[in-house]
Amino acid sequence: MIILGIETSCDETAVALLKDGKEELVSLVSSQVDLHQKYGGVVPELASRRHLEVLVPMIKEALIRGGLDFKDLDAIAVTRGPGLVGALLVGMETAKALSIALGIPLLGVHHIAGHIYAAFLENEVSLPALALVVSGGHTELIEVQEGESFRLLGTTRDDAAGETLDKIARFLGLPYPGGPQIDRLSKKGDPLFHKFPIGETENPLDFSFSGLKTSAIYFVEGLKKKGETVPLEDVCASFQEAVVGSLIQKTRRAVKKCSFKRVIVCGGVAANSSLRERMKELSSKLKFELFIPSIHLCTDNALMIARAGYALFKKGITLSLQDDVDPNLSLYD
Ligand code: KG4
Ligand code: ZN
Repeated sequence: MIILGIETSCDETAVALLKDGKEELVSLVSSQVDLHQKYGGVVPELASRRHLEVLVPMIKEALIRGGLDFKDLDAIAVTRGPGLVGALLVGMETAKALSIALGIPLLGVHHIAGHIYAAFLENEVSLPALALVVSGGHTELIEVQEGESFRLLGTTRDDAAGETLDKIARFLGLPYPGGPQIDRLSKKGDPLFHKFPIGETENPLDFSFSGLKTSAIYFVEGLKKKGETVPLEDVCASFQEAVVGSLIQKTRRAVKKCSFKRVIVCGGVAANSSLRERMKELSSKLKFELFIPSIHLCTDNALMIARAGYALFKKGITLSLQDDVDPNLSLYD
C-alpha cells in the first residue's frame, strides 16, 4: 500500500512516498527560506507561487527516486489545513487532479495531526498519550486518544513558541527562521545570564509568550541605552531557557494532572536541542515514555502527512471533490 503525501501549508513544499504506513520510500522537502528571508517572515503570495512552480516536478522526482509509476500509488494524502489558503490550495488542487486521474482515494490531513503522527513513523506509540505540539504557528498540549480523537488541554493565549523565537531572533538581527539560530548560539551562552519571566495563564496548562517577548526587547534596549554591548549568545541562551522552561513546566503539569504514561513532543521547535534534552530528563523523573521524532521529521515534511493519511485510510475517511481546504481547520470534535 503506497501513499503519496503532499504538504504545502506554509513555506515548505514537501512530497513523500510511504509504504504500508511505516516504510519511508522517498521524502523530499524544498524550503522557501531563501525566498522569504529578506522579508523576515513568510510572504503568502510568494509562497503560493513557489509551491506552484515546484510541486509537480517534485512529485515526478519522488516517483523516479522511488522507482515507481503513478499507477503504483494507492492513495494521496494532502494537508487540508490549517495554513495559508493560497498555499494549501496548490497542494489540494494537485492532489484532487491526481486522485481523479488515477481513480484513487483522497485523504485530507490536519497539519497538526501530521506532526503528531510523525512520532508513529519511528515507533509504535500506544494510546492514550499526551502530545506537545510546538511549531511556528502552534503551541498545544493535546490528549491523543485511540481512534483519531484529539482533546485540547492547553494552548497559547498569544504567540506560538516558534513564532516567539523567530520574532526575537529577528529583533536580534539574526536570519529567518530564527529558532535554529537561537538554538545554535545558545550552546555557547549562559542560560542563567538573565532570568526572563515565564508567562502564567488562567488555565495552568495554557501558554503565554508575549510578555516574555516584550521583556526581552526591553532588556536588550536597556543594555544598548546604557552603552553596554549585548552578549548575543548569553541573551539567546537565557531567552531559550525561558521558552523551553515554559514548555517543560506545562508539560509536567499535564502529565501529573492526567497521569499520562506516554508523551509525544513534535513540530518544528521539537528540533531544539535544549528542549529535547530537558524532555528526556523530565521523562526519567516522571517515568513516562517519551517519543520525539528525528529532527528531519519534526520540521514540516510530507512523510508525516502520508502517515496521518494512512490512519484516515484505515478508517475509511476520505475527501470528496466538493471538500475544500480550510485555513482554520479544527482538530477537535
Ligand atoms: O513545524 P514547522 O516546520 O512549521 C510550522 O508548522 O510552523 O516549525 C517551524 C518553526 C519555526 O518557528 C522555527 O524557528 C522552529 O520551528 N524551529 C526551531 C528549531 N528548528 C526549527 N526552534 C528552535 N530550535 C530549533 N532547532
Ligand atoms: Zn508544521
